[in-house]
Amino acid sequence: MDDISMNILELLGMSLGVGQKYFREFFQKQDSIMRLNYYPPCQKPDQTLGTGPHCDTVSLTILYQDDNVSGLEVQVDGKWHSIPPKPNAFVVNIGDTFMALSNGIYKSCLHRAVVNNQHPRKSMAFFLCPSIDKIIKPPHELVSIEQKYERIYPDFTWKSLLNFTQTCYRADMNTLDAFINWLRGNNVFPNNGTVTRQ
Ligand code: OGA
Ligand code: NI
Repeated sequence: MDDISMNILELLGMSLGVGQKYFREFFQKQDSIMRLNYYPPCQKPDQTLGTGPHCDTVSLTILYQDDNVSGLEVQVDGKWHSIPPKPNAFVVNIGDTFMALSNGIYKSCLHRAVVNNQHPRKSMAFFLCPSIDKIIKPPHELVSIEQKYERIYPDFTWKSLLNFTQTCYRADMNTLDAFINWLRGNNVFPNNGTVTRQ
């Protein structure tokens, strides 16, 4: 997963014009996370969701889905689209932290998982995360005084965003905005961990 994510980061760096190595170096130390999801069949699938609509707070998500059972949906222009599993393929999503790191150029992907009344479903997610104390700040090439590239998000650490979602906010489609608002108004967590403010 390390190799795959580094290769994807190289492509992202090239596409943003910051060079092949920039993000590879940024993520050289990581505090990445692996999550295994299990969605049992549900008798009334139209009345529930496996995972509600949310954006992943991490940098990148590399998801492997159960070969035979659909469930993942992404929202495009206000409509939900199913992303059926493909054998030997991963789904790669941009998360909130990469959105902040690219100064809003890459958008965090809104998605959810639905359930069905017949088959259990499994998925495996590798969440690429920066080192816990690394300051999330876009490279200077992506920020300029021109209106177009004005800095959108203040500096923050992955630790502070992770704490935010674990102590006071359940990740949803507005996590990053809620976190930034919270960051601008406070500098201490309920659990006394300190955060980095701009
Ligand atoms: C997640 C997630 C989707 C899925 O773990 O964050 O969105 O298909 N999972 O299980
Ligand atoms: Ni997700």
